[in-house]
Amino acid sequence: MNHINISIINQFPQAFEKSLIAVIVTQENVDFLKSLWKNFPQNPEIFTKEKSISIQPNENECIVFQGYQHFKDLEPEKFRQHIFGWVTRLNKMEFENLYIYFPGIENHPQSKLLIRSIAEVPILSNYQYIHLKTKKEWNSLKNVYFVTENLNWENELNIATNVAKSTCIARDLVNDPPNLLDSVILSQKAIELGKKFGFRVEVFEKSRIESLKMGGLLSVNLGSKVPPTFSILEWKPEHPKNDKPIVLVGKGITFDTGGLSLKPFDAMSTMKCDMAGAAAVLGAMCAITSNNLPYHVIGLIPSTDNRPGENAYTPNDVITIYDGTTVEVLNTDAEGRLILADALAFANQYEPELIIDLATLTGAAVVAVGDMAIAMMSTANHDVTEQIIKAGFEVHERMVQFPLWDEYKELIKSDIADLKNVGPRSGGAITAAKFLQHFVKYPWIHLDIAGPAFLNSPDSYRGKNGTGVGVRLLYHFLETYEHWNKSQN
Ligand code: BES
Ligand code: ZN
Ligand code: ZN
Repeated sequence: MNHINISIINQFPQAFEKSLIAVIVTQENVDFLKSLWKNFPQNPEIFTKEKSISIQPNENECIVFQGYQHFKDLEPEKFRQHIFGWVTRLNKMEFENLYIYFPGIENHPQSKLLIRSIAEVPILSNYQYIHLKTKKEWNSLKNVYFVTENLNWENELNIATNVAKSTCIARDLVNDPPNLLDSVILSQKAIELGKKFGFRVEVFEKSRIESLKMGGLLSVNLGSKVPPTFSILEWKPEHPKNDKPIVLVGKGITFDTGGLSLKPFDAMSTMKCDMAGAAAVLGAMCAITSNNLPYHVIGLIPSTDNRPGENAYTPNDVITIYDGTTVEVLNTDAEGRLILADALAFANQYEPELIIDLATLTGAAVVAVGDMAIAMMSTANHDVTEQIIKAGFEVHERMVQFPLWDEYKELIKSDIADLKNVGPRSGGAITAAKFLQHFVKYPWIHLDIAGPAFLNSPDSYRGKNGTGVGVRLLYHFLETYEHWNKSQN
């Protein structure tokens, strides 16, 4: 990962070196800026519109004045997009320092989100996955300076730095190719991250998974040369605000060929992303522990690849999940729900306050919402559900809620077993969730991240390839989480 320093300074240096200086101008602060800045553009009427002007007083300096009409026009996401623009421009110029100056930022109604963006967006925008290249061309950005009188914002910058770095950890895991990140390596990385960040990790190996009779995970693993793993992560701070844990479950298919129901070439080409749910859970655990969030959180990661090896599980097989439910396999490509069924059934033993699973579960979710949104379904109470939706808007990892009506359950009933692992093509994201719901006994939120987990072309600070979606969302949701369940359920 490319390291950048993020700090607060209360005045500009005497001279700049290789610096891009970004100044936010609104009608609220324009007079102040005019009085202070000798280079201030003479045509400030441009700031009655959302527009920018740049000046280059010398070869070491580029000053960008970014206008907004009013504070209220500056939504956090707009601000993030601008920061991304500055970082991109700075790297093109091979500059090293980014100064951000926004007098009056503390008067903005969402000042906390704006200030966090100052750390978060440069880190996310500057992310590069280049460690496998023999010749590494690093971006030039080295330092971000937030210029403000108020040095108290340091804490917000630290929080945001930790969350952004954790998002990059998730991105790295998703971008790692399947030969360098199999189920065993993923569990080893979980152990390493646990040591580094301070959460507990226990890994169940194949023999333990067998004795627990996790038939979903074991069946999907039959075609593989690498044994399955089931990792349990735990963060239990000294005085947690919750008595019962919050359990996060992440789909950890390190590569999804579809198995015997083999995927066509196109559909298979990005399937190293099929452990993005697991990466999000790991990244979230790093963010939660590095910022010391006062919640007891458990992460569960069932992991294997899905391949058509000679022993591979077969359409028409009937398998038995951890809780005893029998499942008729009709399509070996609907493997995620099988490994998640074991993990969700296993989660019940913690009597959790809330279960959240993240999974690149269905192509149907991609068809429905593209890469712009998460397909969300929930059995948690209204307030908790609203809270995760709100957190999604705030960090711009937005979600669309789908229903979990009973009628959908009829579509996955099997003639010869309790359930079958596929329904009809239409409504595919919902029937997949209904399948999972069968195994869950506690309030539950399902996040189908198949769309936003992996991008084929770059999109602003989300970048290209693995996005780390879910990390910022989970962190922000938990940070603002209060025990709604207690009063509501
Ligand atoms: N991993 C895929 C879903 C997926 C699709 C993730 C596109 C990311 C991008 C999942 O295991 C899968 O293959 N689902 C099937 C289910 C079907 C066979 C019922 C699908 O959606 O086609
Ligand atoms: Zn699949
Ligand atoms: Zn899959």
